Amino acid sequence: MTEMVRDTVRVELGERSYDILVGAGVLAEAGRHIAGAIGRKRRLVIVTDENVRAAGHLAVVEQALGAEGLPVTGAAIVLPPGEHIKGCDSFGTLLESLLGRGIDRKTVLVALGGGVIGDLTGFAAACALRGLDFIQIPTTLLSQVDSSVGGKTGINSKHGKNLIGAFHQPKLVLADTAVLDTLEPREVRSGYAEVVKYGLINDPAFFGWLERHGEEVIAGDDKARRQAVTTSCRAKAAIVGADERESGQRALLNLGHTFGHAFEAACGYDDRLRHGEAVALGMVLAFELSVRLGLCPAADALRVRAHLFEAGLPTGRADVPEVPWIAEELLAHMGHDKKVCDGRITFVLARGIGKAFLTSEVDTADVLQVLEG
Ligand code: GLY
Repeated sequence: MTEMVRDTVRVELGERSYDILVGAGVLAEAGRHIAGAIGRKRRLVIVTDENVRAAGHLAVVEQALGAEGLPVTGAAIVLPPGEHIKGCDSFGTLLESLLGRGIDRKTVLVALGGGVIGDLTGFAAACALRGLDFIQIPTTLLSQVDSSVGGKTGINSKHGKNLIGAFHQPKLVLADTAVLDTLEPREVRSGYAEVVKYGLINDPAFFGWLERHGEEVIAGDDKARRQAVTTSCRAKAAIVGADERESGQRALLNLGHTFGHAFEAACGYDDRLRHGEAVALGMVLAFELSVRLGLCPAADALRVRAHLFEAGLPTGRADVPEVPWIAEELLAHMGHDKKVCDGRITFVLARGIGKAFLTSEVDTADVLQVLEG
């Protein structure tokens, strides 16, 4: 049963602090919450994609804004769905389209969609007229628990993903858990990998809760979903509040991503592997590498693998036969990651579940061994 409960998570960043509101039905209250965050006078421009419009979410938001009398400049900008719009060309087109509407510095962009829309719109907000305010309304599990929170915005370059971007915090995040019912199950499972990540980084009790309730989160139980999204956002808010620009512990959020990005790059970022699926594989490998280096009990790595497997996520080569799994090539992709510094790859390893840490002291030979299985 759907409850009308709302959780509020505060991201504490001084004068740039903001709230994340989590709950089923938040979308229909968007007007009230946006008015509370930025007032009623500022003009809004909604940026979304065709899938989000087709699912009916744009109409709900437009109605909610209209009901509160909030001024919206022109019809929503509705982009084609997919990662390919997160490039320089589409970005330029989006900026020209915004400027063509006569936006001013008080205009507020509303990013209604998944990670692609959030990252692209957030970066447009960071650049247009040297910086506009923006609001995130994430519509996928992945964007609700990760990309909409923390102010990383950006687009892809032909040299790699997210290589062009800015830190630009939103003014408000509205995470409607009921919206997740409109996603295909594969997309929900993919986002679930990022939820598991928070348990593995520093919250073993949350990981234990996910072992007991993960099935409910994936299946769509509203209470379980709200708890999973809220706990994830709280974890991310704490890390971002302490290290907004990733000079230290924010890099823990990359658990599973060093390996994961290599798999995504090997697939050319196509649909053979969704981001969360790549992260699931990466987290399994990060734990296996930690065991190999004598840092982590093997039982913990087995628990991680078993839980991700039960969640329907890939945990090894046999689960992704279509992925080109060539250890040397994957290692080369890791060397191109933007987190590489002075030629050294930074890994997020673990001393156990909930005990992640950063290190650049890993031998390539050990990484290759783990990749070769
Ligand atoms: N997605 C990782 C971060 O926001 O830092």
